[in-house]
This record gives sequence, structure tokens and C-alpha cells, in this order.
Amino acid sequence: MDKKTLLSGVKPTGQPHLGNYFGMMKPCIEMQHDYFSYLFIPDLHALMSVQNGPEMRDLILNLAIDYLGAGLDPEHTILFKQSDVPQHPELTWIFDTITTMPYLMRAHAFKDAEAKNKEITVGVFNYPMLMAADILLYDTDVVPVGQDQKQHVEFARDTALKFNNIYSETFKLPEAIIQEAVAVVPGTDGQKMSKSYKNTIPLFGSREEIQKAVMGIVTDSSGGRPKNVHAIHRLFKSEAELEPIYTQNEGNYKVLKEALAEDIDAFIAPLRERRESFAAQPEKVKEIIREGGDRAREVAEAKMKDVRQKIGVTL
Ligand code: ADP
Ligand code: TRP
Repeated sequence: MDKKTLLSGVKPTGQPHLGNYFGMMKPCIEMQHDYFSYLFIPDLHALMSVQNGPEMRDLILNLAIDYLGAGLDPEHTILFKQSDVPQHPELTWIFDTITTMPYLMRAHAFKDAEAKNKEITVGVFNYPMLMAADILLYDTDVVPVGQDQKQHVEFARDTALKFNNIYSETFKLPEAIIQEAVAVVPGTDGQKMSKSYKNTIPLFGSREEIQKAVMGIVTDSSGGRPKNVHAIHRLFKSEAELEPIYTQNEGNYKVLKEALAEDIDAFIAPLRERRESFAAQPEKVKEIIREGGDRAREVAEAKMKDVRQKIGVTL
């Protein structure tokens, strides 16, 4: 009964990659039996970049199948989609009324968009408040994420403190869990692996897709050890295992890349098989999401009853 609560999510904006898996999915899956766990699909967040109904539907269902394939156990983890719990946008609005514009202007995502002269929607600007609502509605203790999401979890903490100060103790203060070894999984070009940099290795790619991505890893010719290949290889093998392989094949990038592709494929094969078994039962997956939504809504509504009471909108 005294288990702590874990919550995290990945936006349904494309095929998950090894960075998503090692940075966020795997830690959540490993922890799911020790925590009261929520893994959700932030589809309202994804509206910032996916603005096509059929595509969104497809991305949501596929991401749920990916989570399940990666090892999410629906008996232990509540899998739901954000849009099934209208308490998220409701709480976002309440947070908006206690948050200032200069504070949100400090968000990395906002600053990046501004530096690149991108058009910034109100949604993008307000993104951290929706994420704070996601986290705080469930009395979340820990949020396993990659390094890039740390600031967002800090915004959630600040917002909880601010609300608690104004209206009395209501929200728990969450903590980001960032596993140092995989805080930033590098992509095929050595930068952070990210959908937006087109440097990803897909988590559920076919053998051919994996091979193609691995062969495309950027190598520089200084020294016999291709740094980017080795960095990705470390996700699959220990330094002690890699040492002889890299010594034996010094300078032979092709062989080293082939060894990496082989190791990735061997690692992914059982996950791919599990994924396929869920992909063959879309109705079952939808049912899991519906049931997860029902359970999440119950918890979120109980929290919102308290919040509405505190802010005085209940008569
Ligand atoms: P992307 O950068 O590809 O758009 P997301 O922003 O959707 O990825 O990230 C989803 C989750 O995966 C977040 O918790 C994020 O921190 C984690 N993540 C994404 N890329 C990496 C990476 N290269 N290394 C570690 N974690 C990552
Ligand atoms: N912002 C996260 C990302 O881009 C996704 C997300 C939305 C999230 N709400 C969350 C992650 C709550 C953890 C907790 O990856």
C-alpha cells in the first residue's frame, strides 16, 4: 500500500527510437513493479506538431503497442491517453492563473523556438503547465525521463509549491529520475538522438532498417575507434565485452558497425515479437487504453474535487 507513484509519457509524434527506450521507456518498465505506475500518451501535447486526425489516431495506437511491446505490463501499469482525462486541461488553466509569462519564458523549448525565429503557438508557450498538471494530478513521486525533460519536472515542482503556498498543502513535489548512463543517448551523428535531428535508430525497426541506420553512423577517421559507434554499442554491451572487439578490429569501421547492428538486432528481436503479438490485437489494445483512462480519471477527479474546493469554485 505504501508504494510510491511513478508517472511518465512519450508524445505520439513518431516511431520511438533507442533514445526514448533507454532514456525513458526502459527505466519505467524496470520500475513498474516497485511503484504504483502510470505511463500515458500525451496526445494533447502532440497536437503541437501533429495536426491531422487519422495520423494522430494511428500514432496513438502505435505508441500504445510500442509501450506494450517494450514490456509495459497492463496488470501493473495504468496505460492511458491524456485526452481521456479532461482534468489535465482543467488543472492547466488553474495553473495558468498563478504562473507569470516571464517565468514560462525561461523554458528551454520556448527559448530554442524563439532563437530559431519559429512561430510560437500559445500551446507551445504553455506546454510546461500542461505537463505540470499531468504530473501533479496523480500525487506523483518520481518521473523517469531523459535529461532534456528535467527542467519541465522542475517547473511542475515550482508550480506545486506556488499553489500550495496560495491555497494550502495540496500537491506532492515530484522528482525527476534521470539515469546517468543513458541521460543523453547519442544519435547516428553524435548529437542527442532525437526525432527532430533525423539521427535516430528506431526501437522497433526491421533488421534492414537497423542495419541502414547503423551503417549511416558518422565516423571520423581520427584514431581507430569510431566514437559514435562505440557510444551506442555501450548501451548493449559492457566495456569489458567491447574492449577486445574494438581492439581486434581497430580501424575497421565496417566490421564494428556490423557487430553493433547484430547486437541491436539480437536485443530487439524479443521485444519486436512481443510488439507483433499486440499489433495483431488492436481491439485489445484499445480496451487496455480505455480501462486505463477510466482508472486515471477516477484518481484525477478525486484530486480535482480537492482543488476545486480549495480555490472556492464549489458552492
Ligand atoms: P525526441 O527528442 O525524439 O522528440 P521526445 O522529446 O519525444 O524525443 O522524448 C521522449 C522521452 O524520451 C523523454 O523522456 C526524453 O527525455 C527521452 N529521450 C528522448 N531522446 C533521448 C535521448 N537521446 N537520450 C535519452 N533520453 C531521451
Ligand atoms: N514533455 C515530455 C516529452 O516531450 C512528454 C510529457 C508530457 C511528459 N507530459 C509528461 C513526460 C509528464 C513525463 C511526465 O518527452
